Amino acid sequence: MSELAILGGAPTRTEPYPAWPVHDERDVAAVTAVIKSGQWGGHPYPGPQTTEFVRRFVEMQGGGHAVAMVNGTVTMEVALRAADIGWGDEVIVPAYTFQATATAPMAAGAIPVIVDIDPETYCIDPQAVEAAITDRTRAILPVHLGAQMADMDAIIEIAERHDLIVVEDCAHAHGAKWRGQGAGTLGHFGSFSMQSTKILTAGEGGVLLCRTPELAARAASIIDCGRAHAAVAPYGEGGETFTLGANYRMAEIQAALGNVALERFPEQTRQREEMAAYLEESLSEVPGVRLLKRDPRHSRRSFYRYVFAVQPEVFGADHDVVCYALAAEGVPCWVGYEAMHHYELFQPGLSKLPVPSAFPERFKFDEMDLPKAERACEHEAVWLDECVFRAGSQGVDDAVAAVAKIQRYAAELQQLKEAREEAE
Ligand SMILES: Cc1ncc(COP(=O)(O)O)c(C=O)c1O
Repeated sequence: MSELAILGGAPTRTEPYPAWPVHDERDVAAVTAVIKSGQWGGHPYPGPQTTEFVRRFVEMQGGGHAVAMVNGTVTMEVALRAADIGWGDEVIVPAYTFQATATAPMAAGAIPVIVDIDPETYCIDPQAVEAAITDRTRAILPVHLGAQMADMDAIIEIAERHDLIVVEDCAHAHGAKWRGQGAGTLGHFGSFSMQSTKILTAGEGGVLLCRTPELAARAASIIDCGRAHAAVAPYGEGGETFTLGANYRMAEIQAALGNVALERFPEQTRQREEMAAYLEESLSEVPGVRLLKRDPRHSRRSFYRYVFAVQPEVFGADHDVVCYALAAEGVPCWVGYEAMHHYELFQPGLSKLPVPSAFPERFKFDEMDLPKAERACEHEAVWLDECVFRAGSQGVDDAVAAVAKIQRYAAELQQLKEAREEAE
């Protein structure tokens, strides 16, 4: 019988990795207090929990003017709308990301322009951004993917030269820093998700960091049914003028959970950083594993997922088979997103925009040439779950041992791959 767990052998790890999200009595007490207060929702906006949450979030991230919302998708839509970006404008997005990065511009009425990634970081390639700029381009939407940050020096430089708005998608980058400056405070806007898989979670939720109080007041108005908000933190009541808005407010119960999550966050970040460094020492020794770039400008890393690349030639199979085998060994992992132009969840035809008829060149997916994203998405990328880090050095040792074991049995993995291909 094979040694590989996926072929019936003994798994590397039998003990489950720790669950997410974590909780204790503090969460129960915080939610109970909100229930007893009577102010459960987000109206009037912002409530006391939300006010406290955004104050602490800004402190944690080191800047910006924060507006709390229902999730980390509307944050991006609202950012674009607050910057007057809408119908027919082009917004440049990376090919490797969750579909929200491309659908948010469409919700604002804009056209997502999908560009290739840097294979060393899997984040948007600044050269591809530059090449995609037209006279309709209004914004760049870089994503700090997994545990990486996009090259913000290059992106800000391009944006300034072309007078473009930068919205950082920081759904994976709570606590991350670039040259000591918080992710989400480098561009005009930083968009954060607090959905349940995120490393700072309230179950659901989003925060938009804005560069100026004026942008924050506009965003606050858009998410509070158009009510006017003053350009003074916490962006409360401000005059009579209404804008076109909807209810995207964060609820007080969510903000209360966010406040407790923020208490735990510094220690969790420290532990993840320590364990990631430990992981890298041994993972880099496994034949056929390529670690992504460790950019010294990325001065503090945060770890939504730890993403690395496998060389299919050395593992006998692409990343999907490697991930099946790793999961069978007891190590939670994922192949990651599909390239955006192949991503089945990204369906521009379902939008209210007249696409593809109005902007055919932006939606002819068959004709798009995004080879670096395709290589990462179809062959190479392995997304290791962050719970591996919360299981301490033993958790990391087990994960690396499992990767090394799978690679040692590359020949069996290749047979497995061929059998799967035949069955398809
Ligand atoms: C990169 C990225 N951007 C945006 C989002 C959207 O966040 P939300 O689910 O809070 O809308 C997510 C995840 O959900 C994400 O992973």
